[in-house]
Amino acid sequence: MIDAYGRKITYLRLSVTELCNLRCRYCMPAEGICKKRHDQMLTEDEMILAVQAAASLGVNKVRVTGGEPLIKPNILSICRRVAQQPQIRETDITTNGLRLNELAKPLRDAGVKRVNISLDTLNRDKYAYMTRGGDLAEALRGIEAALNAGFDKVKLNAVLIGGFNDDEIPALAGLTKRWPVDVRFIELMPMPGDTLFGEQAYIPASRVLEELPDAIPEENHDGVARMYRLPGGQGFVGLISPLSNHFCAECSRLRLTADGFIKPCLHSREELCIKGLDLDGMIEMMRRAVSLKPRQHEALSATEQSRAQRTMNQIGG
Ligand code: 5AD
Ligand code: SF4
Repeated sequence: MIDAYGRKITYLRLSVTELCNLRCRYCMPAEGICKKRHDQMLTEDEMILAVQAAASLGVNKVRVTGGEPLIKPNILSICRRVAQQPQIRETDITTNGLRLNELAKPLRDAGVKRVNISLDTLNRDKYAYMTRGGDLAEALRGIEAALNAGFDKVKLNAVLIGGFNDDEIPALAGLTKRWPVDVRFIELMPMPGDTLFGEQAYIPASRVLEELPDAIPEENHDGVARMYRLPGGQGFVGLISPLSNHFCAECSRLRLTADGFIKPCLHSREELCIKGLDLDGMIEMMRRAVSLKPRQHEALSATEQSRAQRTMNQIGG
């Protein structure tokens, strides 16, 4: 489907749960979130129906997200059924990696092609601080398990936080030399429910290039990331700049929240409910969502928060 600004919508981000086994400061409040009633959330069958509806409108790629998708008991079944849809040529997942040691291989067998793993720091104490209690060693074991499971691609995502991990840019980017992975730096977005970071936390992705003088720009784009390569790097270094450089003009996505709302844009408050609808009803609602995609989101900065009325874990990271 083509939206009002000529963008082809081919990509669905499917959030399967709002819950998480971590509490990252930029994503969730410390106390976690109020667990919604089971009957407010999409069932597995509804998720698959939604994927079919999206596929009939031209979506060919699905990324399964959360919350943390790997704490969902039926995650393998969801992934398998999404990957089995004939129009879906690629099923990917975004995870904090903690459960990958156990689940990497079964996910691969279920048909998942690519895995994105969050990794903001290589320091044990800083990891525990930012995730409010996570164990870095477990995440690293998860990354190794993903590398051994034979996915087409493993990417590591680091949210850039001034005063927290800006001193680790070379070390994080250097992981592309140690492993066949892409490492992508993402500008911190001011989201509802996050810890209030000071202005110094919002550093532009261009800082990454200042720290990597030998990075070589690549021609090809990876969706929303600008790509570079370090000499000797097996994978790319990517920059994702939602603040300093909107990629809205290239946005091909719709988002579906775990409680059944289609979000035309991550940063808008617009939401359309598809829970309880049949296939035709879902298709109609998705058409409407595509027609409501804004040309671009409003300004985001240290002082201008996202208009989304949800925390990141409730949207789908
Ligand atoms: N800013 C930038 N990225 C975020 N994510 C979650 N919250 C934010 C935020 N405030 C992204 C991170 C994380 C993924 C799950 O969602 O990339 O790794
Ligand atoms: Fe969980 Fe990911 Fe949010 Fe961290 S960023 S709390 S891992 S959903």
